[in-house]
Amino acid sequence: MISTLHFEDSLQLAAGSFNNKIITIILAAGLGKRMKSGLAKVLHPVAGIPMILYPVKVAEEISSERIIVVVGHQADRVKDVLSGRDVEIVQQVEQKGTADAVRLAMNSLIEYKGVVLVLCGDVPLINSKTISGLISAHRDRGAIMTVLTTEVEDPSGYGRIVRSSDGSILRIAEERDADNEIKRIKEINSGTYVFDSLFLSEVLREIKSENAQREFYLTDSIETGLKKGFKVYAYKTIEREEIIGINSRNELAMADIIMRRRINNRHMLNGVTMINPDNTYVGMDVSIGQDVTIYPGATIEGNTTIGSRSVIYPNSRIVNSQIGSDVNIKDSSVIEDSRIGDGSQVGPFAHLRPGTILEKNVRIGNYVELKKAFMGEGSKANHLTYLGDAEIGSDVNIGAGTITCNYDGKKKHRTTIGDGVFVGSDVQFVAPVKIGEGAFIAAGSTVTKDVPPGSLAISRVEQKNMEGWVEKRKKRKGNKTQEK
Ligand code: UD1
Ligand code: MG
Repeated sequence: MISTLHFEDSLQLAAGSFNNKIITIILAAGLGKRMKSGLAKVLHPVAGIPMILYPVKVAEEISSERIIVVVGHQADRVKDVLSGRDVEIVQQVEQKGTADAVRLAMNSLIEYKGVVLVLCGDVPLINSKTISGLISAHRDRGAIMTVLTTEVEDPSGYGRIVRSSDGSILRIAEERDADNEIKRIKEINSGTYVFDSLFLSEVLREIKSENAQREFYLTDSIETGLKKGFKVYAYKTIEREEIIGINSRNELAMADIIMRRRINNRHMLNGVTMINPDNTYVGMDVSIGQDVTIYPGATIEGNTTIGSRSVIYPNSRIVNSQIGSDVNIKDSSVIEDSRIGDGSQVGPFAHLRPGTILEKNVRIGNYVELKKAFMGEGSKANHLTYLGDAEIGSDVNIGAGTITCNYDGKKKHRTTIGDGVFVGSDVQFVAPVKIGEGAFIAAGSTVTKDVPPGSLAISRVEQKNMEGWVEKRKKRKGNKTQEK
């Protein structure tokens, strides 16, 4: 028990901090009442990615030997988001406070001796560089516990760092338990700590829930540690933006802006032009080639890559897509799970739905929708067209208003169009149907049968011209009025 520990023990405990081992505990069990949401707080996205993935990434970057995530609210959904990552999950059924959450995680670390890093699932902006600084400071001082702090203009909502006249930390006061004098303190607790593992296991047993929330506060470990004569420090960083804890939608928006600014800065440093970076939304995993220009209002998300010199015009959304080099995506186009070859042009107002593949130099114009459609090199569909479940060869011209009728109410059927086919305007392909190479489909045709290569297909009512008909009609109408 901690009460039996003396100063020598403290030195011995601190020795644990000097080996290079680090294990990380991430607290992510809370619902986040102040978010007023049906979705657990750590699942809310920041720059398009669930918040919980950011601290996991930091732990990976500092080479944490193990990463233990404490989950509770919507545990299954949090687990889904973490699947594929090398993390261990611990369940906190009832959210009894941050100390209780860490205690549960420590149950899987009974044998462990070394540094334990505690991160909050709701502090996504923290950088691994800051964490490395914190761990080094902790080790250099031979501390038993070090808390990461910063000073902010508006400290409301955060735990305040109470220091003595000589500047050493005395305790952390939660806002709910603080008087006005304490509330004026601008130095806040980031919710990020490093502990000596043995100290942490012991101190957790001593923490009580005598506070406004009746919760077990991890922050109480400071006072308890100091009382026992251990070296407890506060490590202040100037990187105050990193410390933002997300408790409300306002803070969520703030974190999103900061994260997107970081991402955009990275791309601009790599040679991407952004006309207005504050109005350009690029996801964490997007990669963009040199001399790409992105106009305001573009949203580029998921696992998207964009080749060199391409231009993304205003208000387009591109998701999980591979865009080649020298591609123009014109205004207000939506591109999802698609691939676009070098030199192609898409839009304005085009919709490439999942499974669209465009080879090189394809042109997709105004109000064209594609779904599970392949278009070979140099093919064009420039206006007002729907191509679904279609395989279109190279150098094919699709006239304005052409539609693949791919759905019979029950099943989807394919349309196959060979190389060099010319499709006139306003053609309907009633799938399944195959058009041979070099065929010519007359404008206004409804194609229900396969067309052999090189043939003309025409299926429309023959035009009849009735000469003098308009004049005769006028006369008929005139007579009728006179009769009245
Ligand atoms: C906490 C700190 C506060 C600090 C702030 C930084 C405590 C008591 N207070 O306050 O000093 O300034 O973070 O952002 O630690 N969680 C669990 N299980 C629980 C309770 C919480 O896993 O039983 C998780 C939450 O999901 C969250 C994190 O711990 O990711 C912090 O909890 P939260 O309720 O947000 O604490 P704050 O009030 O922000
Ligand atoms: Mg919080």
